[in-house]
Amino acid sequence: MKLLERFQYLIPDAVFVARKHGGRAAAQLVGRRVGTVLFLYRRYLVLCHPLSDSLPTPIPPDGYSVRRAMPQDLPALAALVGPGTARLFARRMAMGRVCFIALKDSEVVSYTWGTFDTSWDLDYIELPLPTGTAYYYGSFTASDHRRQGLLTALTGLQDQHFRAMGARHAIGLVERHNKPSLAMWRSFGSRQMGTFTHLRVLGWEWVRRIALNPE
Ligand SMILES: CC(C)(COP(=O)(O)OP(=O)(O)OC[C@H]1O[C@@H](n2cnc3c(N)ncnc32)[C@H](O)[C@@H]1OP(=O)(O)O)[C@@H](O)C(=O)NCCC(=O)NCCS
Repeated sequence: MKLLERFQYLIPDAVFVARKHGGRAAAQLVGRRVGTVLFLYRRYLVLCHPLSDSLPTPIPPDGYSVRRAMPQDLPALAALVGPGTARLFARRMAMGRVCFIALKDSEVVSYTWGTFDTSWDLDYIELPLPTGTAYYYGSFTASDHRRQGLLTALTGLQDQHFRAMGARHAIGLVERHNKPSLAMWRSFGSRQMGTFTHLRVLGWEWVRRIALNPE
């Protein structure tokens, strides 16, 4: 992980949050991000669901549309995540990471990422993904739009996309205490197939994983 690069994303995001929510929120963002770049200890459950040949067509809730994000969607994504994180998102897209978005009146309100490859720089994690396994990550729904089925619809699109690309399974990492996310993965019929511990100290990364192979 390139420490300086992470801080480059932080400054434009902090200015964006300060304008939108005030200085206190910006200071909290800076504290949180600087803290986790310097030190992080997280324990995740590895959750997995199979991708069958016949997947249902995802239906977005009324008033929303869902689709794959393209580079021209980056300004709309930046309005949700900030210009710094949008710069990271642009790099991810350029490197083949796939983003799906939900929109309401051309405003992006939810997104999720998927990939067959991972790297510390782009994804903040490196996983030895078995062949035919897609990794889903970075899911987010704006708080006013939660519990309406947006992430469910986006995950349906992800499943169809990665199944068409040859994936047989999708996996994700969820922190043990993240009850909404655990409930969300379980609602897709996911099962736990391992654990993953991530320790970061001053930019050095250590991981301990137990079982990442869904077969
Ligand atoms: C987790 C998150 C992405 C879910 O997005 P969402 O668009 O609200 O998800 P959906 O409406 O499609 O919910 C799907 C299912 O997940 C479960 N779920 C979602 N939020 C939940 C909550 N707060 N409590 C309990 N279950 C929840 C439910 O089973 C739900 O189905 P139901 O509403 O029919 O019961 C959203 O809460 C979020 O952005 N959280 C903060 C970021 C985060 O934790 N991301 C995941 C990192 S691994």
